[in-house]
Amino acid sequence: MDRHWLVAGIIGVLIWAFDLRATMTDPALQSFFSAHQITAYKKISVGDSCDFVYKLVGKKNLFILKILNLRRPLQKRKAVVHMTAWAGREGLGPELVWHDKTYHYMVMAFSKGRCLRADDLKNPLLFEKVVASMRKAHTASLSHLEGVFPYPLKVRALRRGKEVMSYALQNFRQIFRRLKSRFFKDSGDVNYNTVSHADIKVGNILLEEAARPIFIDWGEVTVSSPYDDLGSFAHHFELDTYQEKRLLNLYFGRGPCAEEINHLRAHRRFAALNEVFWKIRVFCEKSNQNIIEMNKSMDFLQGFL
Ligand SMILES: Nc1ncnc2c1ncn2[C@@H]1O[C@H](COP(=O)(O)OP(=O)(O)O)[C@@H](O)[C@H]1O
Ligand SMILES: [Mg+2]
Repeated sequence: MDRHWLVAGIIGVLIWAFDLRATMTDPALQSFFSAHQITAYKKISVGDSCDFVYKLVGKKNLFILKILNLRRPLQKRKAVVHMTAWAGREGLGPELVWHDKTYHYMVMAFSKGRCLRADDLKNPLLFEKVVASMRKAHTASLSHLEGVFPYPLKVRALRRGKEVMSYALQNFRQIFRRLKSRFFKDSGDVNYNTVSHADIKVGNILLEEAARPIFIDWGEVTVSSPYDDLGSFAHHFELDTYQEKRLLNLYFGRGPCAEEINHLRAHRRFAALNEVFWKIRVFCEKSNQNIIEMNKSMDFLQGFL
């Protein structure tokens, strides 16, 4: 292995270990631990998130501790905490139990629910509940997001694509240019003035007892168009054409017009592209180790053209 990578790896592990020790000895967190008689904690390993998530075992209750990365500006961390709290109060998410003054630590009630899967949505009643919850989430006041600027999915996907460009992958420049002119020029320009969860995907919607869907992980929350979440939902839960129309029908309370269907499809495409660009970026960051996977993603992109 390249010596530089080895050194970087060792430094990374040291920073991680130090960070973890410092984290759990934070005085504010310590007082939460003693007030709630936390006896053990376990890291929940997840994908490429920049936050740490722990399951806390208390004498009486289980909790989830989320440590929000300090690279996020304070206003953004506040928005994440405020929306988590709001969702908890509205029955759309787990109850927020505690957060520190710097909005670095946030503790929620542990949900015994499991992740919602695409298959679950074959149940029409459950489908209806999920859409109703998403609609309700979009009614949250923008005051929870003070100081957070709109960040539409379209812009996010473009930014991801540009990041991938910097890796100078074979063919990518050309593919990206064609994708941009075909899909990003004018499609999906809608009003960007709604609270958007902005990370609707499998893993971020849990199904609780009595088939109650709840939204977790408001880490990307932003101001945008409802179509961002609707499109992400359609993409990540693999909705078919019938389900797409039903989604809009339930969301708007009436049959969708052709323009609305086009908006949904455009945003679904942004979600798909954003996901695949993100994947390619992670592959690149892992020092080109997985060339095969990257080529698969290129084929995926080419399939759009
Ligand atoms: N309140 C909760 N109750 C139960 N499990 C949770 C809760 N919050 C998060 N999790 C679990 O931890 C995983 C990661 O949490 P999440 O908030 O989505 O963080 P990340 O930003 O790493 O995706 C979730 O997919 C879920 O399985
Ligand atoms: Mg998540």
